[in-house]
Amino acid sequence: MSVALIILAAGKGTRMQSDLPKVLHEVAGAPLLVHAMTSGAAVEPARTVVVTGHGAELVEAAARDWTDDVDVVLQSEQLGTGHAVMQARDALAGFEGDAIVLYGDTPFIRGETLEAMQAARAGYDVVVLGFEAADPARYGRLVTDGDDLLEIVEFKDADDATLAITLCNSGVVCAKAEVLFDLLDAVTNDNASGEYYLTDIPAIARARGMTAGVVRCLEAETMGINSRPELAVAEAAFQAQSRLGAMENGVTLQAPDTVYFSHDTYLGADVVVEPNVVFAKGVTVENGATIRAFSHLEGCHVSRGGVVGPFARLRPGAELAEDVKIGNFVEIKNAVIEAGAKVNHLSYIGDAQVGERTNIGAGTITCNYDGVFKHKTTIGADVFIGSNTMLVAPVTLGDESMTATGTVVTRDVPEGDMAVARARQDNKTGFARRMFEKLKAKKAKQGKGA
Ligand code: UD1
Ligand code: CA
Repeated sequence: MSVALIILAAGKGTRMQSDLPKVLHEVAGAPLLVHAMTSGAAVEPARTVVVTGHGAELVEAAARDWTDDVDVVLQSEQLGTGHAVMQARDALAGFEGDAIVLYGDTPFIRGETLEAMQAARAGYDVVVLGFEAADPARYGRLVTDGDDLLEIVEFKDADDATLAITLCNSGVVCAKAEVLFDLLDAVTNDNASGEYYLTDIPAIARARGMTAGVVRCLEAETMGINSRPELAVAEAAFQAQSRLGAMENGVTLQAPDTVYFSHDTYLGADVVVEPNVVFAKGVTVENGATIRAFSHLEGCHVSRGGVVGPFARLRPGAELAEDVKIGNFVEIKNAVIEAGAKVNHLSYIGDAQVGERTNIGAGTITCNYDGVFKHKTTIGADVFIGSNTMLVAPVTLGDESMTATGTVVTRDVPEGDMAVARARQDNKTGFARRMFEKLKAKKAKQGKGA
């Protein structure tokens, strides 16, 4: 059966104290909304509708940034979750399959859980995702008879007996789209909040001779983000899961709690990660590479046998081929470093190509920026760049060429040549000794005066 996702993302998120709409706050470098859409992707939705309200343009842009295949509808007034779902009705007109309602601020619903809800639809017209709450607090309560759901009672409308129920509503609902909208037609705002509750659906369904049921999940999955402390808890939960996942896939993390992942970090088997490493967005590391302590990687690729760090920074567009070594206090940006090349100490390599087996000496800088434009540095294979070489781009160095230490390279260096561009050394006989004697005498005199 084909499925449509309806993702509710109209809320303001007052408690975030932010100019940014709540669903655009990030966990592991991706907006909450994208996490919700990623959860939903597990059921291979034929259609996805995002319901926007507060910060609609920004939320729409984030949704479209993640997938072209999305409808965005506006809920101009936030009149409740039922009203929000209704905004998707026109977008899904004629859609024959099921609809699953997700919240844009709830990032951890697992794909398996949504699949279980789909499966439960074989037995029920309406399926609601519930969880046993450690502290039911302000959640809607599920009034059940076994797996049959009789009704959902919102906190504000519940009596003491109902408040004693610990099985709570996650907010995730699955029903045939057409049925869902028909049932929502009957929802009123005659309740303690004056809102159109999506949660009225099960009771209405039953009154019409249809059935409603509950699928249960762990409370951790249903965590919704309403404040910065909750965002921090979500981040910690995501990191813990990522670390565990990496280790289960064959990655060694020497100090797991000190390594930070992005939502899209990929590390191959037998990768070793030393303590205090940050993987920002868009990093892939092939099998067997080592990322040494205190390194920061973003938008880059490390191939088999690579060693990065300690204290290295790989910025977007850094592409390291097999067996490349990047050492301490080295920054690489938008540069391809070919197999076996080494940049071991204190260098900046940006907008560059570095050939196979080339060795870049300590303190080498690609001077890639003239204040207006960026320029490229091309270095061939088997090149030896002497320490403290400045490579003023655009510039090309041929295979098996060399630069003398301290050289400022402003012209291309042909294959096999050595470039030397620095002042010639002149030794002044006895100058240092005479100078020190003078200075020491001066100091001794000053000492007496004091
Ligand atoms: C809702 C449920 C409650 C459940 C809880 C789980 C209802 C009536 N109540 O309560 O049973 O236990 O979630 O967290 O459904 N939204 C819109 N437009 C609106 C209203 C809400 O897009 O007009 C979005 C919000 O941005 C949010 C989500 O829907 O992402 C839930 O809304 P919220 O107001 O937080 O519902 P709760 O009161 O928490
Ligand atoms: Ca909420």
